[in-house]
Amino acid sequence: MKTIAVNIEKGGAGKTTIACHLAWHLADAGHRVLVLDLDRQCNASAALRDFESLGSCKPLFENAFQPPAVPERAIYSNRMTGEYDADYGKALGAFRANFPMLSDAYDYCVIDTPPAWSWINFAALMMCDDLIVPVELGPFGPDSTRQLSNSIQTVNQKGRRTPIRIAGLVANRVKANDRNQLAMLEELKAKIGRNLFATHLPDRAHYSQAVQAGVPVWRFDKDVRASLPPMRAFLDEAMERIRS
Ligand SMILES: Nc1ncnc2c1ncn2[C@@H]1O[C@H](COP(=O)(O)OP(=O)(O)OP(=O)(O)O)[C@@H](O)[C@H]1O
Ligand SMILES: [Mg+2]
Repeated sequence: MKTIAVNIEKGGAGKTTIACHLAWHLADAGHRVLVLDLDRQCNASAALRDFESLGSCKPLFENAFQPPAVPERAIYSNRMTGEYDADYGKALGAFRANFPMLSDAYDYCVIDTPPAWSWINFAALMMCDDLIVPVELGPFGPDSTRQLSNSIQTVNQKGRRTPIRIAGLVANRVKANDRNQLAMLEELKAKIGRNLFATHLPDRAHYSQAVQAGVPVWRFDKDVRASLPPMRAFLDEAMERIRS
């Protein structure tokens, strides 16, 4: 099982939109896909209605975990109510032991993460193979990547044997005629080079509307000629980066 986390602390950067589309993309390609919706907002769980619910992710953080019957597209949701926040070391230990028990049943696991740092994000970064980072080209957008690189460093030092592979940063909600954003995009490219996805996701209402309707943009019942190609290009590049 290959595990891909979508993470950035900044709220509203596009984590859920990207995680859901990646999960649909993989599942529609015939892979067995597990989603961990680790955000208590449970936005991904609301969107991925065609994934079978495995209920709360809480058992994954407990000692007596029994792997469930495993449907080919399945989702665990964060229905926890802060019960491990005061004693998260044990929860992380249990998660480290339990998560691999799911690895024979799935080809891919996609982890959607909450905004703001917590031990839950530590858990996601601890177990993922690859990390996708959405960035909004607005005020503070690119700055938020600094926090993430500090977090990655901490998790690499304290929680992993091998460093997290960063699949890349992807610029999201790019407005084609916003010169300021395009300048920021160039600046980011000059700064991080290949770590920036060559493709970016434009600002298109279809992505929101499709996710709200519980379908990927390629199954959205609208004229998606403008919104589909950039999403496809992004997902193809993501898969290429994850495989390489
Ligand atoms: N490329 C896009 N074009 C238009 N709207 C978008 C795009 N990407 C995301 N959105 C919208 O922006 C909002 C935030 O996106 P999303 O929920 O994916 O971000 P998030 O990082 O998961 O947020 P949170 O930090 O709250 O979990 C949502 O309403 C979403 O539909
Ligand atoms: Mg989200």
